[in-house]
Amino acid sequence: MKSLILFLSLLTLQCLRATSRVCHVDDLAGLLAFKSGITDDPSGLLDSWNGTDCCSWFGVTCLSNDRVTSLWLTGQPERPDGYLSGTISPSLAKLRDLDGLYLMNLRNITGKFPVWLYGLPSLLFVYLGNNRLSGPLPVDIGKLGTQLDVLSLAGNRFTGSIPASLSQLTGLTQLNLAGNLITGKFPIGIGSLRNLTQLQLHNNQLSQPIPEIFSSIHQLRFLNLSHNKFSGKIPNSISSLSSTLAFLELGHNSLAGQIPSFLGNFQTLDTLDLSHNNFTGPVPKTFSNLTKIFNLDLSHNSLSDPFPVMNVKGIESLDLSNNNFHLGKIPNWVTLSPIIYSLKLAKCGIKINLTNWKPKETYFYDFIDLSENQISGSPIPLLNRTEYLVGFRAAGNRLSFDLGKLKFAGTVKDLDLSRNLVFGGVPNSVAGLEKLDLSRNSLCGKLPPTKFPASAFVGNKCLCGSPLPACK
Ligand SMILES: *[C@@H]1O[C@H](CO)[C@@H](O)[C@H](O)[C@H]1NC(C)=O
Ligand SMILES: *[C@@H]1O[C@H](CO)[C@@H](O)[C@H](O)[C@H]1NC(C)=O
Ligand SMILES: *[C@@H]1O[C@H](CO)[C@@H](O)[C@H](O)[C@H]1NC(C)=O
Ligand SMILES: *[C@@H]1O[C@H](CO)[C@@H](O)[C@H](O)[C@H]1NC(C)=O
Ligand SMILES: *[C@@H]1O[C@H](CO)[C@@H](O)[C@H](O)[C@H]1NC(C)=O
Ligand SMILES: *[C@@H]1O[C@H](CO)[C@@H](O)[C@H](O)[C@H]1NC(C)=O
Ligand SMILES: *[C@@H]1O[C@H](CO)[C@@H](O)[C@H](O)[C@H]1NC(C)=O
Ligand SMILES: *[C@@H]1O[C@H](CO)[C@@H](O)[C@H](O)[C@H]1NC(C)=O
Repeated sequence: MKSLILFLSLLTLQCLRATSRVCHVDDLAGLLAFKSGITDDPSGLLDSWNGTDCCSWFGVTCLSNDRVTSLWLTGQPERPDGYLSGTISPSLAKLRDLDGLYLMNLRNITGKFPVWLYGLPSLLFVYLGNNRLSGPLPVDIGKLGTQLDVLSLAGNRFTGSIPASLSQLTGLTQLNLAGNLITGKFPIGIGSLRNLTQLQLHNNQLSQPIPEIFSSIHQLRFLNLSHNKFSGKIPNSISSLSSTLAFLELGHNSLAGQIPSFLGNFQTLDTLDLSHNNFTGPVPKTFSNLTKIFNLDLSHNSLSDPFPVMNVKGIESLDLSNNNFHLGKIPNWVTLSPIIYSLKLAKCGIKINLTNWKPKETYFYDFIDLSENQISGSPIPLLNRTEYLVGFRAAGNRLSFDLGKLKFAGTVKDLDLSRNLVFGGVPNSVAGLEKLDLSRNSLCGKLPPTKFPASAFVGNKCLCGSPLPACK
């Protein structure tokens, strides 16, 4: 009975609220100004923004009273009309109690960095990713305050360098400036951000060596500096992250020198990407201790033998392509992985008979690249055990089998068997592929109808029919 009364009174309260609630006049004015700065809203994100109860509007949250505490509007990347055009009105500064501003994936929001955020004393979370904001990051960006927890500006068009005053944002746990047009050096002041767990600066144009700042950032779990122009060596101070770092991504830079052996002591490393740099020398023996690594990409460097035996429980994706390795065979720790889905060992000096390669698991495979090795035999027993394979590349080997007997999963889109010793005829099943290269083999017979150009078939024994010359 008691609870029923309570329930009824709550219900009346709820109804009263719904009919008569009015949000704070400043917040109402700020949000209406924001709405008027939006020039196009094809998916109707702001359709509910009318009346005086702004706390009930879509994307608006008021935690305890009539003050707005967060504004959350995200576009839908999968919908062509899931965007907003316009600018972010500075009148949002009237939302005095705002702790989170989430304007993400709206794609068509333009303007400069919102410096009016400086005036908001409770601001903790700023997520402005995937819009079209532009111009330099303001030199006084440190005025956002020591209370700020997350600053995410990824996927915009910000230019210029990272302001030194960023070092004043000592409360930050996540800093994401990825996917902008940012130039200049990696600022030393980032070392003052002792609470950082995620630092994402990838896909910019940062250059010069990465400074020795990591000994003060003890909780870093994600470090992504890939796709920049960093030069020099991997800084020694990264060794102080050995018990926390899970993702270390330094690919697509101009880093050089040897891979430091301390990386082998990183007990929690999940993903290591050092690809597309200028690393030389052997992979440290200590890598045998990376028992928990799932994703390892060392491709496109100048690394040399010997490759350590890894004691990994299960690798998911591995790319060692285009170094100076002479592996001889596919390593056992790869063959035995119960969860591998991507294997790229192009130009790794592998000399096996593929017919006899019996990987423990083939079910999850979606990509295999064994190009430019000395592999003989047949891929038939491998490919007929895959269910989700999308790509198989084995150009420049000594594969010798009847292509007419090759069966592959319906998921396959990309097949490259060029420069091998493949014989027989071309099966009709290749017509469903998106990419195909069968050039320079020993194939024969009439081609099935496909959309592929002659270059996919040239240099065979006696293939004929469109797009090659007609059969005699
Ligand atoms: C006002 O918003 C409500 C939803 O909150 C909606 O049903 C209604 O159509 C809107 N009215 C106008 C005039 O846009
Ligand atoms: C973005 O806005 C511009 C005008 O500001 C408009 O021409 C364009 O169609 C919009 N595009 C998308 C995807 O929103
Ligand atoms: C860093 O995090 C700790 C623990 O969460 C917290 O006590 C401290 O205030 C934070 N430092 C800053 C500068 O916010
Ligand atoms: C790191 O950056 C690359 C692009 O440079 C991206 O593909 C990758 O997903 C990023 N990693 C994480 C953990 O965000
Ligand atoms: C590697 O070094 C060579 C010569 O020092 C240079 O020409 C090349 O651009 C570098 N490659 C990368 C990816 O930095
Ligand atoms: C692996 O780690 C253990 C314990 O930390 C250490 O004793 C051993 O030397 C390491 N192995 C290699 C090859 O570094
Ligand atoms: C590869 O192995 C198969 C099966 O053992 C065998 O029939 C074939 O002759 C071998 N091919 C080469 C080139 O050794
Ligand atoms: C796969 O190919 C091998 C060798 O040709 C054959 O023995 C096996 O039956 C095939 N398996 C399936 C599922 O087609």
